[in-house]
Amino acid sequence: MAPTQEIFFHLIVLLNLVIVSRAFPGKIIDRAPDVLQTYDYVVVGGGLSGLVVANRLSEDPGTTVLIIEAGGFTQNEDWVTIPLISSGNVPDLGNGPRGSKYDWNMTGIPQHELFNRSVNTPAGKVIGGGTVLNGMVFNRGSKADYDRWETLGNPRWNFDNLLPHFKKAENFTPPDLSLEAEGWDIEYDPAYHGDHGHVHSSFAPFVWPSTRNYIRAMKELSVPIIKDAMGGNAAGAYWFTQSVNPQSETRSTSQEFYAPSRPNLHLLTGHRVTKVKIKSGKVKGVKFSAGENFTASFVEVSEEVILSAGALHTPQVLQLSGIGERPHLSSLGIETVVDLPGVGWNYHDHTLLFTGQTGKSLLMSNNLALADLNLTVNISPNSGNFSNLTWSAEQLALYKSKKEGPFTTLDGNFFAFLPVEKLANMTALSSAAAAQPTSHYLSSNTPPTVRAGYEAQFSLLTSDLSSSTMAYLEFIFGDKAILPALHQPFSRGSVSINSTSPFDKPVVDPRYLSNPLDLALFVAGFKYARTIRNTEAMQAIDLTETYPGTSVMTDAEIEEFVREGMDTEHHHVGTASMLPRGLGGVVDPKLRVHGVEGLRIVDASVVPMLPAAHLQATLYGLAEMAADLIKPGH
Ligand SMILES: Cc1cc2nc3c(=O)[nH]c(=O)nc-3n(C[C@H](O)[C@H](O)[C@H](O)COP(=O)(O)OP(=O)(O)OC[C@H]3O[C@@H](n4cnc5c(N)ncnc54)[C@H](O)[C@@H]3O)c2cc1C
Ligand SMILES: *[C@@H]1O[C@H](CO)[C@@H](O)[C@H](O)[C@H]1NC(C)=O
Ligand SMILES: *[C@@H]1O[C@H](CO)[C@@H](O)[C@H](O)[C@H]1NC(C)=O
Ligand SMILES: *[C@@H]1O[C@H](CO)[C@@H](O)[C@H](O)[C@H]1NC(C)=O
Ligand SMILES: *[C@@H]1O[C@H](CO)[C@@H](O)[C@H](O)[C@H]1NC(C)=O
Ligand SMILES: *[C@@H]1O[C@H](CO)[C@@H](O)[C@H](O)[C@H]1NC(C)=O
Ligand SMILES: *[C@@H]1O[C@H](CO)[C@@H](O)[C@H](O)[C@H]1NC(C)=O
Ligand SMILES: *[C@@H]1O[C@H](CO)[C@@H](O)[C@H](O)[C@H]1NC(C)=O
Ligand SMILES: *[C@@H]1O[C@H](CO)[C@@H](O)[C@H](O)[C@H]1NC(C)=O
Repeated sequence: MAPTQEIFFHLIVLLNLVIVSRAFPGKIIDRAPDVLQTYDYVVVGGGLSGLVVANRLSEDPGTTVLIIEAGGFTQNEDWVTIPLISSGNVPDLGNGPRGSKYDWNMTGIPQHELFNRSVNTPAGKVIGGGTVLNGMVFNRGSKADYDRWETLGNPRWNFDNLLPHFKKAENFTPPDLSLEAEGWDIEYDPAYHGDHGHVHSSFAPFVWPSTRNYIRAMKELSVPIIKDAMGGNAAGAYWFTQSVNPQSETRSTSQEFYAPSRPNLHLLTGHRVTKVKIKSGKVKGVKFSAGENFTASFVEVSEEVILSAGALHTPQVLQLSGIGERPHLSSLGIETVVDLPGVGWNYHDHTLLFTGQTGKSLLMSNNLALADLNLTVNISPNSGNFSNLTWSAEQLALYKSKKEGPFTTLDGNFFAFLPVEKLANMTALSSAAAAQPTSHYLSSNTPPTVRAGYEAQFSLLTSDLSSSTMAYLEFIFGDKAILPALHQPFSRGSVSINSTSPFDKPVVDPRYLSNPLDLALFVAGFKYARTIRNTEAMQAIDLTETYPGTSVMTDAEIEEFVREGMDTEHHHVGTASMLPRGLGGVVDPKLRVHGVEGLRIVDASVVPMLPAAHLQATLYGLAEMAADLIKPGH
């Protein structure tokens, strides 16, 4: 830059700053008239990903950013903030009651392989999105899980490149010294953690006594105990952190990324984006509304719209905007702007199975009403030395005064993520996989490009079946249950609109167990839960299965039990996958929607294949990496 140009440039920046800070008192807006006419960026959805991206984009004071979120702020209710009772946020396993006021209350359509049962798919409708509802498990998958993303046609999307972004998001706190004093021996490697990020990741200062038995059981079964699984070696049993602020011992959400003091960042709550307006292949802005009986408004964007509405709603916004499969859009009378058949397909999810137990010296049982403790509990969870109200009240007092005791923790803090070879007859499974006509079990109306993309995934899923470094099943350990969970599902479903009203719910069809390999893996997982219970280490506390118990013994009985009881682990992804267009992709490796200028997607929708880990830590890193991709273009 020549000196005069440079001075001119600085003047412009300065001028921008003055204009921006005048016009933009950093504010929370709840009515459309207070929204400015134009912003550089509009972020659709203030959930996990949207708040990360908005934070990073608005770090430049010269960039104006508007977040539009359908929900509002929480009231910091006990059932939102206190780790132990946080599961009170969501409907009970199975078809329990409706969700909370922060939930979209979605339910999938009846599932053929589950005896026509429907499964609830809770999703946050609140600032923070799913991070307000979630179980706060904070972990990452194996290196090879992420390297698959690159293999599928996304240069640079591999573990090594993600790791710095994973770290950037994280605010890690090492284990409390009291844990060491109690001999828990939790190790960590600082190389895998960040301590300047916004989302807290910390170890609960309380460990369930039965964890000692689980650790011994894993050793007895020759499962490797991993020192710190955050570095890409995540097939084994390990301690994990929680997204909990260790000072207050309360939930840490993506709201920690919201920077209310920035004058260039606006947040509109209680409004839903109904359409992205595209003209001549370029994004012009978005339409939004407070509800079906309110008038719609429009806001212009000069740079980009970023869709972060989550894996259930991002495809809805795309389809309402004319981006999707032409025949589907035509059938609804929507004009096709980009014929992109992949929108809404490649839906997949982690699923789990509850198996119950009792034993000696367990603190949790199935018979407690925490409501007696005068906590605001949304849906009463099953927890229970908790059936002794005096004890429970003491523990709650301890939590409130000293931030200690069982109220600081989840149902468990040490889980296993295991390769298939640890728990199943590989010969049988591998030959079953090899014998499958590749995309035979997909829905018959799956578009050809989506089918091609699945074939690429199927080939990875089958070859990695015998990997010893990739986990396929998780085992959630608690006092009252062991839950096997399927982490590399072969089944694929979809999300799609069946109405042109943006206020109607999209149709969610997970197609759980549509591929019989998933059922076979669940059967193997169910049996391994029994293997764990039968170890000497678990028998030392007389661990006994109470549910389903001895009525379920044969493979056929186990299969029926799985079909009746299987539930979601709430990690749905893939509905706007980052894949080449010829493989049913919706976004390119820079997360730009194929065929449109100025439209990106940053949320769980773009994940082409699930890692074997709970999802949030992955998404925080994905959103950080996305923000870096978007920024230099400005
Ligand atoms: C019950 C539950 C338990 C979970 N447990 C765990 C766990 O223990 N560990 C873990 O790692 N992960 C867990 N997860 C998963 C994790 O929280 C989610 O994967 C994550 O929040 C998804 O992030 P996202 O950015 O894709 O979408 P979200 O966080 O869902 O954000 C999407 C946001 O967009 C808003 N929105 C949607 N449509 C519109 C629209 N049209 N206009 C405006 N706003 C809109 C929504 O209201 C929401 O706030 C859990 C999730 C749930 C629901
Ligand atoms: C979900 O259900 C809860 C409890 O019934 C209710 O308060 C909330 O408003 C519902 N959410 C939506 C989006 O309808
Ligand atoms: C499931 O629903 C289908 C379609 O309505 C029906 O044909 C089938 O008999 C049902 N199956 C069961 C097990 O109820
Ligand atoms: C919108 O108005 C119609 C007609 O009065 C009414 O039936 C509907 O319930 C209203 N919708 C909402 C969300 O209030
Ligand atoms: C709950 O509140 C009631 C009424 O205020 C009180 O009598 C009771 O002792 C409280 N229980 C506990 C466990 O604090
Ligand atoms: C749970 O209760 C039993 C019996 O009252 C007691 O021995 C044990 O110490 C209690 N556990 C904790 C962690 O307080
Ligand atoms: C209940 O808990 C209290 C307080 O810890 C304890 O003194 C009492 O013995 C417990 N009662 C039973 C039946 O275990
Ligand atoms: C594994 O499965 C194969 C093929 O079905 C079978 O021949 C073999 O006996 C099984 N092995 C064990 C240990 O069950
Ligand atoms: C759309 O799907 C839902 C199920 O999710 C169903 O209740 C509704 O009737 C369908 N609407 C149309 C117009 O097909």
